[in-house]
Amino acid sequence: LPTSSVITLNVNGEPRTLPVDHRTTLLDALRERLDLTGTKKGCDHGQCGACTVLLDGRRAVSCLHLAVAAEGREITTVEGLADGGRLHPVQQAFLDLDGYQCGYCTPGQICSAVGVLREHAEGWPSAVTGDLRPEAGPPELTPEEIRERMSGNLCRCGAYNAIVEAVAHAADSTSAAPA
Ligand code: FES
Ligand code: FES
Repeated sequence: LPTSSVITLNVNGEPRTLPVDHRTTLLDALRERLDLTGTKKGCDHGQCGACTVLLDGRRAVSCLHLAVAAEGREITTVEGLADGGRLHPVQQAFLDLDGYQCGYCTPGQICSAVGVLREHAEGWPSAVTGDLRPEAGPPELTPEEIRERMSGNLCRCGAYNAIVEAVAHAADSTSAAPA
């Protein structure tokens, strides 16, 4: 059986063709083959969120996805969020509100936050109460709700308060359209 293939990944709106060993994770393909080093490797085991990207608009830890399985999907990394020279509102909020210290977890936090805003806009039920009744309506993005929804993204610097403030600020911004 072949152990490698030439695949085409759709990354940040561009087709990128590359040969990969079938065992290559999406994270390694992005960082080591496509030079998209904004996406970070923390644990490499799905536990820290540093490698979070968007797959078809949904949050995904790229260390737990194989590159070959990402063919045909829309992959968005932190490098692809800005609109030309204009930062994505979530990126701008992290800058304005100092939502980072060392910055290592930040690309994952930002991609995750973009996913959170999209989930909220789609009316996903509360992550705090777990209330699935339609009449419960979409939950308010309270700090508690943001903390719960962002709980898969760890920050070893402990910059959580500013991260939550940045996400709340981006959510309040009328221009915070999900990517
Ligand atoms: Fe993927 Fe930690 S590097 S979750
Ligand atoms: Fe340093 Fe989060 S800002 S790990």
